[in-house]
Amino acid sequence: MTEIDSAATMRAISQHVLGGPEVLTEVQLPQPVPGPGQILVRVRAAGLNPTDWFHRAIPGLFLPEPPFVLGWDVSGEVAAVGIGVTLFRPGDEVFGMLPYPGGHGACAEYTVGPARAFARKPAVLDHVQAAAIPLAALTAWQALVDVAALGPGQRVLIHAAAGGVGHFAVQIAKARGAYVIGTASAPYHAFLHGIGADEVIDYRSTDVAEAVSAVDVVLDSVDDDNSVRSLRTLRPGGRLVTLRAMGPRDLATEADALGVRAVRMLVEHDRAGMAALAGLVEAGTLRPTIAGTFPLSEAAKAHALGDTGRTVGKLVLTVP
Ligand SMILES: NC(=O)c1ccc[n+]([C@@H]2O[C@H](COP(=O)([O-])OP(=O)(O)OC[C@H]3O[C@@H](n4cnc5c(N)ncnc54)[C@H](OP(=O)(O)O)[C@@H]3O)[C@@H](O)[C@H]2O)c1
Repeated sequence: MTEIDSAATMRAISQHVLGGPEVLTEVQLPQPVPGPGQILVRVRAAGLNPTDWFHRAIPGLFLPEPPFVLGWDVSGEVAAVGIGVTLFRPGDEVFGMLPYPGGHGACAEYTVGPARAFARKPAVLDHVQAAAIPLAALTAWQALVDVAALGPGQRVLIHAAAGGVGHFAVQIAKARGAYVIGTASAPYHAFLHGIGADEVIDYRSTDVAEAVSAVDVVLDSVDDDNSVRSLRTLRPGGRLVTLRAMGPRDLATEADALGVRAVRMLVEHDRAGMAALAGLVEAGTLRPTIAGTFPLSEAAKAHALGDTGRTVGKLVLTVP
């Protein structure tokens, strides 16, 4: 346990009401104090995800009423450790995803989370690159590896392959020896071939469900209708994983009727997954693409860009 100044304050991006990017305001808050098993991290960069724009604006998702500080993705230095922490000590450089959804609070100079939500930051990444990875890449890892058990020689269809999750999913699938088919609009095809996609389909001009067949795994994040259409691209016994954790269709039953499987998933903080991602980074097979960086004070600008849903790769806030 490190001595903590309980009177210390920090800059954070908070909001008192739900709404557009303009509701985000910079405030001074007390620095959090790490509880047992937790670490206090001096945030150097905070990665953003669609869940940040959703929770900023939409009531009734996973968080109580504001005020709150959003942000789940962190890269920084350990500033203090709570009782019983053995994995890290002050000064260690770490990256990780705060527990989703309740552990938010990365968009600040300091944040706390369980030590086991973090891994050591690979030295080959700077803090911006490291903060771009956790939530999106853990989602891709858990979907493809933990849920779908994607293996060498298998064929995988990755929807929205140029997005935050998608571009990590392409790289993770290639690292596992799979044949990768990605969907994206035409301007992003060269990017996707560049990170290893074997085939890229323009979903705007092509009926993907007609063009693709006999895949072992589908990763979808678009919507339930897209998932239902994609079930027909699976070989018998194939698996679809959707990142739409809730939705209007009974996907499991519709999949069952076709002799395939469909699963909804929600990302979880995951030390083993973070270690696996760090291993891929160190092996040179996983790199984030940065769509844009903004200083913490300009979080609203980053959110406005995120709201478009048209970014390639990841948006990251820097916390100098
Ligand atoms: N369940 C979970 O735990 C979990 C975790 C992470 C993310 N998610 C969800 O997964 C979704 C994707 O997340 P993300 O971080 O990858 O978002 P993102 O980075 O904002 O995704 C943007 C990308 O989506 C593409 N896109 C949009 N509509 C498409 C369509 N109909 N077909 C193919 N591509 C399309 C866009 O490319 P174009 O410009 O070519 O359309 C763009 O490159 C979000 O809804 C997010 O909330 C869920």
